[in-house]
Amino acid sequence: MSNLLPQQVTIVEVGPRDGLQNEAAQVDVSDKLELINLLADAGLKVIEATSFVSPKWVPQMADAQQLMLKLQQREDVQYPVLTPNLKGFELALASGAKEVAIFGAASETFSQKNINCSIDESLERFLPVVESAKQANIKVRGYVSCVLGCPYEGDVLPETVAEVSEKLFQMGCYEISLGDTIGKGNPKSAQQLINAVSQRIPMNNLAVHFHDTYGQALANILACLQMGISTIDASVSGLGGCPYAKGASGNVATEDVIYMLNGMDIYTGVDLQKLITAGKFINERLNKITGSKVSLALS
Ligand code: HMG
Ligand code: MG
Repeated sequence: MSNLLPQQVTIVEVGPRDGLQNEAAQVDVSDKLELINLLADAGLKVIEATSFVSPKWVPQMADAQQLMLKLQQREDVQYPVLTPNLKGFELALASGAKEVAIFGAASETFSQKNINCSIDESLERFLPVVESAKQANIKVRGYVSCVLGCPYEGDVLPETVAEVSEKLFQMGCYEISLGDTIGKGNPKSAQQLINAVSQRIPMNNLAVHFHDTYGQALANILACLQMGISTIDASVSGLGGCPYAKGASGNVATEDVIYMLNGMDIYTGVDLQKLITAGKFINERLNKITGSKVSLALS
């Protein structure tokens, strides 16, 4: 196996946001907080907590302010939140957020469907968010969606992803998370993507965000690790999906990623058993069976 494999990987746990934004059932704020705390207990150091988006668009995240005001932030854990515009950023800041994420796309149609504007307009909206964040000493992460395919436009060129990613990076995002929103990628297309994007942005500033619709996520993650990627987004129990990408299923399950990395002697600092406990908690609340094969196998 390639000697480029990292010794250590940072997991960005997106379950409380990407996971719960797509659930039909409304989850109580107290249960969301319990989930976030259980994930922190498991050793996760970056937990995406919620989104400051329009409650008309994503009612599941309508409690963002309440959640952030009640969240007891641990010193050693980062709790980024999604902020698509200045209004979202200001609400996030007033609620105690210390890291935010802006989210664009490499597909025009997806951008329109998801955030109601073109790619260029989205970049114009993000600029004041990044500038205000700099003044407030707040880190900004940047997402690019549809990096390996769009639910409306089909194939997306790696070069298009690289261009949008570079614009977000130059604007001031410290990290660009490449989102395979509909899980269509495979190890070859994932490596071609990383190859194109890493010519413009240092590998250390890139993360990968795979949805597992076609069952390719773990294979894709391994292919990206072999290219030098060392930050992986994942969602406890494989919860997740985007309300504006019909048919897209959950993210890769964090439990499954941790099991694979443990087996490969790659350090994450995450306790698998405690993570499984966190997954069981939220599945009980959602009345769902886990989407993690590892959790099923170990239970
Ligand atoms: P818009 O309707 O164009 O916005 O929505 P607007 O500026 O015209 O405002 C319309 C109304 O929304 C106004 O209220 C605003 O105050 C309100 P009204 O006067 O009608 O009562 N509003 C807001 N309220 C709360 N928070 C805000 C906010 N902004 C405006 N921040 C907007 C534009 C971006 C707001 C909307 O399209 C939206 O909220 N979209 C979010 C969609 C979303 O959350 N998608 C899922 C996350 S992305 C994802 O899952 C992909 C990812 O995981 C990576 C991957 O997998 O690829 C990240
Ligand atoms: Mg996602």
